[in-house]
Amino acid sequence: MFADRIESKWIRLFQNVLVQSGVTSESLVCIVAETQSRELNVHLMELAIGAIGARSFKFVATTPPVDTPVPTRSTGTSMALAGLEAVLPALAACDLIVDLTMEGCLHSPQLRPALAGTKARAIYILNEHPEGLERAWLDEADLAAIERNYGMLAGARQMRVTSAAGTDLTIDLTGQVPGRVTGVVDKPGTFGHWPGGLVLTYPAANAVNGRIVVDVGDINCTFKRYNDAPMTLVIENDVITQVIGDGVDAALFREYSAAWNEVNALTTAHFGWGMNPRAKWEALACYDKADTNCIEARAFAGNFLVGIGANGVAKRLTQNHFDIPLRNTTVQIDDTVVVDCGKLCFPAVR
Ligand SMILES: [Fe+2]
Repeated sequence: MFADRIESKWIRLFQNVLVQSGVTSESLVCIVAETQSRELNVHLMELAIGAIGARSFKFVATTPPVDTPVPTRSTGTSMALAGLEAVLPALAACDLIVDLTMEGCLHSPQLRPALAGTKARAIYILNEHPEGLERAWLDEADLAAIERNYGMLAGARQMRVTSAAGTDLTIDLTGQVPGRVTGVVDKPGTFGHWPGGLVLTYPAANAVNGRIVVDVGDINCTFKRYNDAPMTLVIENDVITQVIGDGVDAALFREYSAAWNEVNALTTAHFGWGMNPRAKWEALACYDKADTNCIEARAFAGNFLVGIGANGVAKRLTQNHFDIPLRNTTVQIDDTVVVDCGKLCFPAVR
């Protein structure tokens, strides 16, 4: 249990995030929040902007009514700005938008389109307690390694993923949209999130085939739980056609997915690997659910991150979303092994 009070170390932490993304005393910064935002982080960000000396304002949307059949977590698709399109041009006039909505507006239909063609850039700060954020920074060597891995993925044709637990997956990368998450957002019109430490791809349609075995101890970030028993996802042309497993997590996965009553709820979204050496698999065991949004689970070095749900590249939309980091997998990009049994191994990682 934390005492949710201002700590100077967290002001400095947020200040560093802003400086990395190019904020100076000459900048105009907008905080976008909602009434259910984590107030501590909003307050820390206001103080961090003030410490730099930038001009700023805060836009707080009323958290909208829930209209989904099940609770949503970690989708990156906040609906806090739905119906507020009229105010977006004012936000897009800023140098940097700091997104402190609960879910984040990364994939929301409002904010990103409003940034197109403007000088504004946006960064989503994960809805985590600042103690968790405190540890998940990246140094210059980490950033360079992410760039190397991203460059190699961007030019590749195929991803193969295997594990002793039974994962055997092939992803055709033709037509993919690759990405990397560094926590640094310094180009006009772009949107990222912090903390970072990920390389990932959104494959084109009909690119994913095989099986994923979610082993004991792997994490479902939607449920914020360690998997209790092996669960196998059989995938045919991006569609999860079978969910095999007797554990509680397999039952939760089946029930939660079915609640959406959508074909796209059980299709693949993105695939990648974690590259943050300070993010830890075991961290989830140390936090109450309200204190974490599982960024460490997604970013810990050497995990293979499975994303299920919306994939804009394949032109599939759904609000259902699972991020499932797997341990102990081997990831091969064309002829190059980048993760060997859960260990990063692309040349000169660190
Ligand atoms: Fe995801």
